Amino acid sequence: MLMDLVSIFPQMLDEPLKAGVLGRAQDGGPLQVRVHDLRDFARDRHRVTDEPPYGGGPGMVMKPEPFFRAVEHCLEGDRDPSRTRVLLMTPQGRKLSHRLCQEMSIEDHLVILCPRYEGVDERVRQWAVTHEVSLGDFVLSGGEIAALAVVDAVARLIPGVVGDPESVADDSFAGDRLEGPQYTRPREYRGLGVPDILCSGDHGAVDRWRVCQSRKRTEMRRPELLCRRGR
Ligand code: ADE
Repeated sequence: MLMDLVSIFPQMLDEPLKAGVLGRAQDGGPLQVRVHDLRDFARDRHRVTDEPPYGGGPGMVMKPEPFFRAVEHCLEGDRDPSRTRVLLMTPQGRKLSHRLCQEMSIEDHLVILCPRYEGVDERVRQWAVTHEVSLGDFVLSGGEIAALAVVDAVARLIPGVVGDPESVADDSFAGDRLEGPQYTRPREYRGLGVPDILCSGDHGAVDRWRVCQSRKRTEMRRPELLCRRGR
C-alpha cells in the first residue's frame, strides 16, 4: 500500500514513521509512505498556505490551491482510482475505529491531508477529499498526530506488516473484546505475583482463563462492546 501524507510540518511526521513496525514495513515491506511539504505546492515567493477567512472571523483558513496541487501530484500514476481514498483529518469526520481501519487497509492508496489552524477552504472537501476522519471528540492543533494514528492502525492490518498475524488477531477490538491482563518475568516483583494458572503449563486452562479475563475486562470497561453483537 502507498500512503501519502501532506502537511506544513513534515518534520512532525518523518521521525515517527521511521520507528518500529512502521519503519520495518517500509524497509522492503508492503508499505510505502511519502511525506509531502504542503508549502512545496504553493506558488508564491513566501510559500503561503493560509489566509484570513472570507466574511471575517478569528484564525486562518488553509488555502485551496496548495491542497489541490498536492492531491493531483499524489494521485499521478494511480492505476485504479476506485482503490484510492483521499482523507481529511478533522474532528468533523467519521470516528476512527477498527472497522474503518479494516476498510482502509484493503485500499491501494491513501492520501492523508493534515490541515492546521481553523481548517481548510471548503472547496478542498468538495473537490479533493473522499473521506473525513476524526480521532475523537476533541480538537488537536492539526491533523498530523491523527494522521500518524491512521497510518499506524491501518498498516498493522496489512498482511506482512506485523510479524506474527496472531498478535493482530488478538488485539483489543479485533474480536470486539478487550485483551485481558498479561504478565512476564519475574514471577514475583515487589510482592506482586503472577496468577498460578499462567505458570501451570496447562495450555487449555490458560486459554480458558484468558477468555474469561478478556470477557470480565470488557464487561467492566466497555460493556457496550459485548451488547453490540448480543453477547
Ligand atoms: N484535527 C484536529 N482535531 C482532530 C481530531 N480530533 N481528529 C482528527 N483530526 C483533527
